[in-house]
Amino acid sequence: MDSNKRPETMERITTPELADAFIAEQVKKLREQIGDKKVLLALSGGVDSSVVAALLIKAVGKQLVCVHVNHGLLRKGEPEQVIEVFRNQMDANLVYVDAVDRFLDKLAGVSEPEKKRKIIGAEFIRVFEEEARKLDDIEFLAQGTIYPDILESEDGVKAHHNVGGLPEDLQFELVEPVKLLFKDEVRVVGKALGLPDGMVYRQPFPGPGLGVRCLGAITRERLECVRESDAILREEFAKNGLEGKVWQYFTAIPDIKSVGVKDGKRYEGYPVIIRAINTTDAMTATVENVPFELLEHITNRITKEVDGVNRVLFDLTPKPCGTIEWE
Ligand code: XMP
Repeated sequence: MDSNKRPETMERITTPELADAFIAEQVKKLREQIGDKKVLLALSGGVDSSVVAALLIKAVGKQLVCVHVNHGLLRKGEPEQVIEVFRNQMDANLVYVDAVDRFLDKLAGVSEPEKKRKIIGAEFIRVFEEEARKLDDIEFLAQGTIYPDILESEDGVKAHHNVGGLPEDLQFELVEPVKLLFKDEVRVVGKALGLPDGMVYRQPFPGPGLGVRCLGAITRERLECVRESDAILREEFAKNGLEGKVWQYFTAIPDIKSVGVKDGKRYEGYPVIIRAINTTDAMTATVENVPFELLEHITNRITKEVDGVNRVLFDLTPKPCGTIEWE
């Protein structure tokens, strides 16, 4: 039987009981596959890799080595949450790599979006490879591949291997415990494994992270503006009942300044663009009708609290003709 094909008889995991049964079955299978060997996992803190980490911790404990690469393009609080949940609460073997300067130095002056994506992807593999070479006796590589990744890679839409591209002499046997699950099922399993809601119900976040929301050539100043304004937007959406209701929302910052006034003085600053959209498959999207008073409040907070920003804009464009991200 093709192990990449979901059996038609497989029940959709919608309840904690079904999740527990799946977890018990996977823990057994993982122990059989891995034995007393070691497994490596690139842990981004996203839903899929976090659920795979939690499953493996349950199955093989310290035989799992998680590598969390902080490329400087993560949202506010994310690296801290990965360390808190996996190292402090789950007692996992976690290697934290601060690669912020490395990534930002490589990206300096690069404004073309696809070139930025390529640099981020290639540098990620290089950092991960370096960490893998420091470790002895690793035989397995775990990945958070999920069923849509397999379907899309069969359709030729995208290659599904998260850390594909490792050199020939560094090939491991793959461990992909959630590869037959859909996203909603991964979330139910994550919840049953005790992961925090903030991790399980995260909105989609692009692999190149804030790198594609700090438009044009990334600077540290504008990167901080986008990170801080995104944190305010997320906080306000959560407080006002929009978290979990709106499919994706974020801020982006273009590389232009405008004239403004702050404290009675001329103040040249960057604008921040708010995007809030709904979709089912990310192929088309509509704009969320965010209450005007809330937009005013968020604008007020961002312009007061984020140094360097003097305007806030709301993107009214559906997809098509705008894509969801600006780059
Ligand atoms: P677009 O901008 O193409 O986005 O309408 C569709 C969905 O894909 C996400 N996205 C990415 N995800 N790597 C990713 O892993 C990327 O390079 C990338 N670009 C866009 C985007 O956030 C949206 O959910």
